[in-house]
Amino acid sequence: MQFDVLTLFPEMFNILNESIIGRAQEKKLININLVNIRDFSKDKHKKVDDTPYGGGAGMVMQADVVYDAYKSVANDKAKVIYLTPQGKKLNQKKVEELSKEKHLILLCGHYEGIDQRVIDKIVDEEISIGDYVLTGGEIPAMVLIDSVSRYVKGVLKDDSIKEESFSNNLLEYPQYTRPEVFEGQSVPEILLTGNHKEIDKWRKEQSLKMTLEKRPDILENIELSEENKKILEKLKK
Ligand code: ADE
Repeated sequence: MQFDVLTLFPEMFNILNESIIGRAQEKKLININLVNIRDFSKDKHKKVDDTPYGGGAGMVMQADVVYDAYKSVANDKAKVIYLTPQGKKLNQKKVEELSKEKHLILLCGHYEGIDQRVIDKIVDEEISIGDYVLTGGEIPAMVLIDSVSRYVKGVLKDDSIKEESFSNNLLEYPQYTRPEVFEGQSVPEILLTGNHKEIDKWRKEQSLKMTLEKRPDILENIELSEENKKILEKLKK
């Protein structure tokens, strides 16, 4: 999968060279191409922004500079995403949907924003990572690349995606490893029995319990199986 990132701060993306996303790049499962918008400045001082028409605080990134940066990677089949708190909020469903694309171009704003005319011209979709304001779109772009890349074949072990939080719409069951006793607390006995059928059942119950306790809002918005409905009724008592 191809990610082109249009940014004034390409160095910020160095953290994606670590761990799972770093390995995914080495294995060429994903390619992250960082485009420095400043390279497209027409100004001898490499200026990329200017004061807003109509006055007001802050600076606005110039339409022509951003457009030239975009044109350096543009492709009819690519989807262009602008990271902005005004966008649609990212969730696991959206992440999964975006992972089906072959090519994403991510536009990161900084300062007060980007001239609206280039946004109108090139952007297909606006995405926010939550209802708070960050200093720029770089961290949101990294959140998007990380979450989407996990769905690219070969990036994770095959069953990791299936078992995790949100992909069955419920939160994940708790996990334990050695030592068997930690600060006086033992691992739940069922996990030591080797009875996989009973362990699966326990884990399913725990998933429902976690969701009921921590994110009851999720349960209101999903279709539960008859089996899960019964377990949930029992847990509520
Ligand atoms: N840029 C600044 N804040 C943001 C947010 N919450 N989501 C996406 N892009 C942003």
